[in-house]
Amino acid sequence: MSSYSQKKILITGGLGFIGSNLARALVSQGALVTLVDSLIPQYGGNLFNIEDIRDKVTVNVCDVRDPFAMAFLLQGKDYLFNLAGQTSHMDSMSDPQTDLDINAAAQLSILEACRKTSPDIKIVFASTRQLYGKPNYLPVDEKHPICPVDVNGINKLAGEWYHLLYNNVYGIRACALRLTNTYGPGMRVKDARQTFLGIWVRLLLEGKPIKVFGDGLQLRDFNYVDDCVEALLLAGASDQANGKVYNLGSTEVVGLKALAKMMVELGYGGTFELNPFPPERKAIDIGDYYSNFSLITHELGWTPKIDLQEGLKRTIAYYQVNQAQYWQD
Ligand SMILES: NC(=O)c1ccc[n+]([C@@H]2O[C@H](COP(=O)([O-])OP(=O)(O)OC[C@H]3O[C@@H](n4cnc5c(N)ncnc54)[C@H](O)[C@@H]3O)[C@@H](O)[C@H]2O)c1
Repeated sequence: MSSYSQKKILITGGLGFIGSNLARALVSQGALVTLVDSLIPQYGGNLFNIEDIRDKVTVNVCDVRDPFAMAFLLQGKDYLFNLAGQTSHMDSMSDPQTDLDINAAAQLSILEACRKTSPDIKIVFASTRQLYGKPNYLPVDEKHPICPVDVNGINKLAGEWYHLLYNNVYGIRACALRLTNTYGPGMRVKDARQTFLGIWVRLLLEGKPIKVFGDGLQLRDFNYVDDCVEALLLAGASDQANGKVYNLGSTEVVGLKALAKMMVELGYGGTFELNPFPPERKAIDIGDYYSNFSLITHELGWTPKIDLQEGLKRTIAYYQVNQAQYWQD
């Protein structure tokens, strides 16, 4: 992993959940890290996420939709970890234009800036399993048809394919990881805008019932954030990854009711209850999903290492101590 020592690195979305954990890993490898984040209040950015490395990174609070700022910030960088995004599926339906502007249009202008001023940069883009839509078969591999069920899935797909196009046409080395549900310290837990797991952690620590929608039998796979960060680092360091997309995932596949039960049984208190699916959520639900991630295992040597029980323990313990930094009553 020494490929990052003394390298100049830009992380968009760097004050968010995955970006901040990635920043910590890169700082520990001696990288020179700049974080870009808009800190739009209802999104996932939080300065507390980098509290322990605050004096070891450069922070630039700006919006990836500002092409001039981005072109300036990209100059001279060796790597771009492109993680900034509007991540709420529900918000992408109620405000589709903002999702388009951030997840697609801004990605194109970032790539244009790279083409014009930083053509030697290596880019890793954080894509999503959401673009597969409702799986036709399980586990879902990279050859599965693409059929997004929401505006976010379509715009993330465009963002992802712009990266591949710039790799293929202009030789700007880029690859994409299709992340599955990722969790861990630093994720947004304040409300249900992003991952359901976030609000479940909050409810658990408040002693309120976790709300599982539907029959709770929907299957999912999860990655602890350290495993996701390792995949980003491996993809950045490998030229074999250029022009490719890789699924992330886990062999530990769990139903949502079983997951809620597991969280309650960790001993932090709380209960869970089954609730009917709100219609607006049901309309964009993807049913069962879990990934086939054998491609990244074979080509880059990645496998997830932290099991769900251990990852959940670490996550809940973090929020038990730091909850005041993530939500107020
Ligand atoms: N966490 C997951 O389960 C998951 C799953 C699939 C894909 N992803 C992708 O991974 C990336 C990181 O996700 P995360 O979970 O860390 O979410 P996050 O919300 O914690 O991080 C995203 C960051 O981007 C920033 N941002 C949003 N719009 C911006 C803008 N216009 N300009 C500058 N910064 C902006 C936010 O402030 C936030 O800090 C996202 O692109 C997301 O689509 C995450």
